[in-house]
Amino acid sequence: MRLDKFVSSAAELSRRDAGRAVGRGRVSVGGEVIRDTSYQVGEDADVTLDGKKLTFSRFVYILLYKPAGFITATEDARPGERVVIDLLPDGIRRRGVFPVGRLDRDTTGLLIITDDGKSAHRALSPKSHVAKSYRFGCEPPLTEEMKDALCRGVDIGERDGRGNVLLTAPARVEGDVITITEGKFHQIKRMFHAVGSEITSLCRVSFAGIELDGTLAPGEWRYLLPEEIRLFTGGA
Ligand code: URA
Repeated sequence: MRLDKFVSSAAELSRRDAGRAVGRGRVSVGGEVIRDTSYQVGEDADVTLDGKKLTFSRFVYILLYKPAGFITATEDARPGERVVIDLLPDGIRRRGVFPVGRLDRDTTGLLIITDDGKSAHRALSPKSHVAKSYRFGCEPPLTEEMKDALCRGVDIGERDGRGNVLLTAPARVEGDVITITEGKFHQIKRMFHAVGSEITSLCRVSFAGIELDGTLAPGEWRYLLPEEIRLFTGGA
């Protein structure tokens, strides 16, 4: 790839700023200053910017603590609304990242944001049965019967082509955390409604084995760790 592309991606600079950095002699390849923006480098090239090593990665993986009041969409999808992508710096947004799946506007918690479409598709596919856990508040509190029903599967209005009831897949309820393997629209709210309770708060605490980072505050983000990337991509 071109050197300015490598620098732009690895240093999260616009292509223009990356080109300027190269032109001004701030970028070296294999220890030699290169001022030619079209100079060809491989993904593993030894590139530095102002003496600091740059690492190219094909995709970016972000863990965002979604705050309430934000729509799970990209910038273009809902002009005028506050969207989760607005919480990330320009350099990352410029890569064309998108949220993996959807949390309701009032739902908080773990949201993966990436530009890796293939892995996102895999994580969201019903065939993957990816586990998602949510800490919930509800009113009235769940009785044992309600919990049992949620765990067995409930009728949230889904039907197959012949009009037969499609129950939700078995869930797990432990204390105030429910774990499901599906991702239907408003699924948890509809499940609680089906057993006679209403959700008053919802926070996703885990997705595909990746836990919400206790050190993040709502609105904050960090890069996924290598092990978390493996969980998300299925090791691909
Ligand atoms: N289920 C819901 O009802 N809402 C969410 O945001 C996520 C799961």
